Amino acid sequence: MTKKNHTLSTETKMAQALRYLDKETGAIVPPIQSTATYARDSNYEIKKPYWYRRDGNETTSHAEKMVAELEDATETLLFASGMSAATSVIDSLNPNAHVVIPKAMYHGVLNQFQTYETKKRLKISYYTAGNLEELSNAMQNNTSLVWVETPNNPDWAVTDISKAADIAHSKGAKLLTDCTATPPCATKALNFGADISMHSATKYLNGHSDITSGSLSIKSSDAFWEEIALNRKLQGSVLQSFDAFLLIRGMRTLFLRFEKATENATRIAHHFEHHKLIEKVLYPGLASHPGHAIQAAQTSRLFGGMMSLITKGNKQTAIDVARYCNVFYPATSLGGVESLIEHRATVSGDDFPVHPNLLRLSIGIEDVNDLIDDLEQALERANT
Ligand SMILES: Cc1ncc(COP(=O)(O)O)c(C=O)c1O
Repeated sequence: MTKKNHTLSTETKMAQALRYLDKETGAIVPPIQSTATYARDSNYEIKKPYWYRRDGNETTSHAEKMVAELEDATETLLFASGMSAATSVIDSLNPNAHVVIPKAMYHGVLNQFQTYETKKRLKISYYTAGNLEELSNAMQNNTSLVWVETPNNPDWAVTDISKAADIAHSKGAKLLTDCTATPPCATKALNFGADISMHSATKYLNGHSDITSGSLSIKSSDAFWEEIALNRKLQGSVLQSFDAFLLIRGMRTLFLRFEKATENATRIAHHFEHHKLIEKVLYPGLASHPGHAIQAAQTSRLFGGMMSLITKGNKQTAIDVARYCNVFYPATSLGGVESLIEHRATVSGDDFPVHPNLLRLSIGIEDVNDLIDDLEQALERANT
């Protein structure tokens, strides 16, 4: 029997797009609000909350409410891409701010920080992802922002978010987490103490590789958040309504997709862990992974579909495996329903610290036997 005052679970709310229901027509799918401008009322007042599309629109607001529900956040802002969300944060820092970031992370964000440093807009200290001692040592009394990507590209090192938050807060800095590889159906970073939770919503949140989008979420607003919101408005980097519509549709199946991706990835990780042609499998879901226990707690054991394989042989062997796959697409990105394989050093450039034989896999929701067979034949072919 249903309990009185029963609060619906986030899973139910996502499946029903927050129980959208158009009172006039009975439509159960949120509409695409395509207008660029909004007419004033008969008193010549703006009909709040919208007045011009660059500030936001009904469809994007609905998607923001869904992300906020997933994140346990009070507020979410959606951007045109993960990079525009990240850039809004970096751009909103005070001149000469000191930031602490990982040595290896998603290379686009790393490059963006370094570009701002080259232009003398900020100063960077680095730590090895997952290493809290190095993170603590990199802190200064004037540090404004600590950036944590967990699990981290492309080695999937795990950082303890609560401990990182304590370190950041002890110096008065904010902690931003990028948990794109484990979306908030698995990791609710704000509940572990992050001040801002960022995601490339291009990935799991949308899940169908047909939009780019980024999200920032918070529990409590302040001047920095206001600055970020203003930055989005003035840059015009708000997520547009057609893409917000697709994001809403994608989020309705997030839980199912992420559970299936985790199930498939776990099977694949175990299959290749002691394989004769594989040097190492990097997957936080494996008990042998150094971050396994923390990640089990930070994801409620939903480890997700991201892993890397280090092949035996040389760099060319790894590239050959990627190009001989017939089921995995040899494409960048992650978090879609289809599986992708990528030789990471080819993509992230020569300066980026990545093993030359590392193949990054984004495991989708296909029949796992087809994925295993595909990797087996590609490995065999690359080694003959
Ligand atoms: C961890 C992570 N953060 C941020 C981004 C940037 O997101 P977008 O491609 O949506 O701009 C990516 C993209 O791959 C990513 O993997």
